[in-house]
Amino acid sequence: MTRRSFLRSTTAVGLSTFGSAISGLVSSSLLSCESVTPEQADLSALQLLPRPLIINGGPITASYNTSSYWPNAATSTQIMLNGSTPCPTIKLGKGDILDVAFHNFLGEPSIIHWHGLSAPPEMDGHPSFQILSGASYAYSFPVTDRAATYWYHAHPDKLTGKQAYTGFAGVLIVEDPAEPKYDLPSGIYDVSVVLQDKRVSVNGEVVYSPSHDDTISGFLGNYIFANGVPNAVLNVERATYRLRLINASNSRVFKLAFDDGRPLAIIANDGGLLEKPVSVDSVWIASGERIELFVDFSGDPSGSKIKLKSEAYPFPSSHRGELYPQGLELTCIEFAVQPAVGVVSMLPTAFRSIPRLDVASAKRMQIFKLSMNHSTEQGIHLINDKLFEMDRSDITIPLGELEVWEIQNEGDGFHSMHIHGTQFQVIERMYGPESRLPTDEGWKDTVLVFPNETVRLAVKFDLFKGRYLFHCHTLEHEDDGMMLNIDVT
Ligand code: C2O
Ligand code: CU
Ligand code: CU
Repeated sequence: MTRRSFLRSTTAVGLSTFGSAISGLVSSSLLSCESVTPEQADLSALQLLPRPLIINGGPITASYNTSSYWPNAATSTQIMLNGSTPCPTIKLGKGDILDVAFHNFLGEPSIIHWHGLSAPPEMDGHPSFQILSGASYAYSFPVTDRAATYWYHAHPDKLTGKQAYTGFAGVLIVEDPAEPKYDLPSGIYDVSVVLQDKRVSVNGEVVYSPSHDDTISGFLGNYIFANGVPNAVLNVERATYRLRLINASNSRVFKLAFDDGRPLAIIANDGGLLEKPVSVDSVWIASGERIELFVDFSGDPSGSKIKLKSEAYPFPSSHRGELYPQGLELTCIEFAVQPAVGVVSMLPTAFRSIPRLDVASAKRMQIFKLSMNHSTEQGIHLINDKLFEMDRSDITIPLGELEVWEIQNEGDGFHSMHIHGTQFQVIERMYGPESRLPTDEGWKDTVLVFPNETVRLAVKFDLFKGRYLFHCHTLEHEDDGMMLNIDVT
């Protein structure tokens, strides 16, 4: 496949072929959930979006439990934190100490990673710090990052995909008392939604069992779960909302859009508020990325139902045996407008300006080639022809020096590339379908790299020397070895 072919396949010709394949799949999957025998379980039943418990630290105990995702459905194994699901939301102020005592009762190794935060290396959840079942890990470090929607998830060696999928993924909100308040919706109007696609069988069971093909394409599902429940519905007042969305899927790339065509007002991404809100018809969000939306339901009549979907999109898949490919149309969450009139905020026209890193002053460029080894069962996904090794030093970057990292995707799949321990800026995109995404502005820790695309990042570590990670956030790729150590020297 040439570098331009993804671009070509998104034209009308590509759309008709892939589009019909996709709509065929959608109707057959709808059919299968509606035709499930009623005494079993109604897999189309809506469920209220759970609002996670809010904590600011303390003990976090992880264990496997068994419960069903739908009334009367078969049970599935789920990870619960402190005995319940979904994971609690951790809320901290900038400058606060993140103090968490992690107790692992999973019966297998684990460790927590604070995705997006600039944690000291030994607090960052590198798998070399993973603890055995029965052991505990004490986290304590000051939060120095911008106010934003971060998240946390399990990060053990080769088990990150399994544990995140099974429920070990929660929200971490940093607020900054020094940031202007603006007029953003708050309190009950500030809603976090952890989105994960899951593969559900006809009896409602969810099992994580990636095949060789799933290791290539990612373990993709047929339902999107929001805060741990399928078919989530949020009852909203006729009011404005701040929606914090986390794509915590193992592999699925969402192209989010409202089903009634209203534009999405994006106010923030991985690293917090953008310089100004951006209005778009749809937005890409890959595994690990976050966006925040300002949504106005004040003009919607009571009884309206509005869906946030992941739209169908053409994906030139050469992957074999995919049940639920990328580009499948799925519903993320439904908003049911209630009669009550609530607080209506004005969408601010601008937020604080974000200084651009001065790329001209970069000390050097490092190139990362993403490729595949088709002649092996495991260790298929490579960065610079290497597979992850726990103790090998791969990338060095001097503390405080700005570098350009050029990521070249040589394959026909998505990769969602993530850097631990810092936030970077997206300089440019080349050879791909998009010249720039609205979410490329501001600060980022995860960047979607389209098939055959090259993306340039401005990268700098300012706080700590030590070992971090650079990896694909398609968790089947990460567990397969698509990860390198970064040594900040
Ligand atoms: Cu969210 Cu190393 O990952
Ligand atoms: Cu991370
Ligand atoms: Cu990948």
